[in-house]
Amino acid sequence: MKLFASRQQWAVCALGGLVVGALGAWFADALHWRQATSSEVQRGRGIYVNGLDNVEPIQARMARQPNTLPALAVRCINCHDRSGAGAEFRAQVLSRENLLAQMPRRGGPATRFDAVSMCKLLSTGIDPAWIVINQTMPRYELSDSQCRALWAYLESEQP
Ligand code: HEC
Repeated sequence: MKLFASRQQWAVCALGGLVVGALGAWFADALHWRQATSSEVQRGRGIYVNGLDNVEPIQARMARQPNTLPALAVRCINCHDRSGAGAEFRAQVLSRENLLAQMPRRGGPATRFDAVSMCKLLSTGIDPAWIVINQTMPRYELSDSQCRALWAYLESEQP
């Protein structure tokens, strides 16, 4: 007995196989992307909470100062909170809501943060409205992937 009665049947079967294969590859890719994203958030959280990229201290210094600060001194958590209303002697709350809100900052026009503008602020101290932030915040030398991970964490709902 012939497996396929006609050429058309053979073609439909081959096409079906291709579709199933493509769907499988897409699904595997989507799954991989999810895992990469959640490990990126964890990496960003480590930078925020400990000033460490895994075990490597991140690099930062006070504005116009030559010496690199120790990891303990440059942890974002020293000065910022992830939630709450903000307290005296604490810097802005770095919640997803505050960072993404289109609002006036430091008396400038309304702006919001994205990965690029936050990374620029961290390295130069210049905010999205081109206003230079207070010098009490260190200036950071993060790699692109460190900064992306930090942003992935800040943009997430993770405490
Ligand atoms: C020593 C304290 C200190 C540390 C550490 C610090 N910051 Fe800041 N940060 C500040 C202060 C103070 C401001 C407010 C500056 C101003 O308004 O001029 C600020 C402002 C910001 C802003 C602007 C917020 C807004 O709504 O405009 C962002 C974003 C930010 N910091 C991110 C970070 C991140 C991310 C880290 C860690 C990598 C960090 N900061 C570490 C003190 C700090």
